[in-house]
Amino acid sequence: MEDQAEKLREIMKRKKENSAAGSASKSNVKAVDKARIITVTSGKGGVGKTNLSVNMALAFARIGKKVIVMDADLGLANVNVMLNMIPKYNLYHVIKKQKTIREILVETEYGISIVAGASGFSQIANMNEEDRKDFIAELDTLSNTDIIIVDTSAGVSSNVLDFIAAADDAVIVTTPEPTAITDAYGIIKIIATEYDSLNMGLKLVVNRARGAAQAKSVADRMINIAGQFLNLKLDYLGFIYDDVSVQNAVLRQKPFMVVDPKCKASICVQHIVERMDRNKPITTGFSGMLKRLFKSSPETGRGA
Ligand SMILES: Nc1ncnc2c1ncn2[C@@H]1O[C@H](COP(=O)(O)OP(=O)(O)O)[C@@H](O)[C@H]1O
Ligand SMILES: [Mg+2]
Repeated sequence: MEDQAEKLREIMKRKKENSAAGSASKSNVKAVDKARIITVTSGKGGVGKTNLSVNMALAFARIGKKVIVMDADLGLANVNVMLNMIPKYNLYHVIKKQKTIREILVETEYGISIVAGASGFSQIANMNEEDRKDFIAELDTLSNTDIIIVDTSAGVSSNVLDFIAAADDAVIVTTPEPTAITDAYGIIKIIATEYDSLNMGLKLVVNRARGAAQAKSVADRMINIAGQFLNLKLDYLGFIYDDVSVQNAVLRQKPFMVVDPKCKASICVQHIVERMDRNKPITTGFSGMLKRLFKSSPETGRGA
């Protein structure tokens, strides 16, 4: 653990240096072409991660982006269920080298693609170096897409945390419920303690709010506490109304953006995506991200 924390501090330091230097200084020129990797996570389950992931993907697709949703929720195959699909293969088959990532990628009728995650991500850290490199290279074949949204499981498995820490944007979802807020704060606190998080793209979404004012007050409180006690910068990305259209869509196993594109929740997701699109980080895709994590490739190890 100690060792891992040290490694991650180093990663975050380098991440910070990279973003400070911009694309100008180093010769990693291809960076701009790579996918933007957005993780969606929460402290507590059932707060709306999968709904946000899938509908955010649709909203990005509507403004012309190529989007992949990756299901890394280990508990239930949520993304599949939400889209009424049953993918045959998942990342596990890629790790076992039985399938390529292209072979497990499934197109949906909504203009987005999905990758079923199974227990894929939790295994990255346990792989030997060669297998890991192969796996990262596989993942990286997806990086010529515009956006990859990773729907992570709730809570704090350390591998998921590593992933969140290295992503271009880490979206934390909470609801106004005290238990959800407490758990969201819990995960933020772990991130702040384990990683050098000041420059991390941590973003907050308040889901199931009664309205803008309630959401804003939840967000303000969390941002203040995070700043004051954890010295961590948290950006408020926006809120989503508590809206029966969401439940109805879930029951029909379709995204609410499809069933009811004009409902309050859909409009909110659109706003969130517009805001994200205006604030693009410099992206390096999976290879860049995971190299930051593992420092494993000699060819990129120069001048850390
Ligand atoms: N904005 C919302 N309005 C109303 N109900 C919601 C909203 N977001 C989520 N829900 C409800 O919460 C349930 C859990 O959402 P889900 O996205 O599966 O959460 P998670 O992925 O975090 O476990 C949904 O099935 C839906 O009934
Ligand atoms: Mg889920």
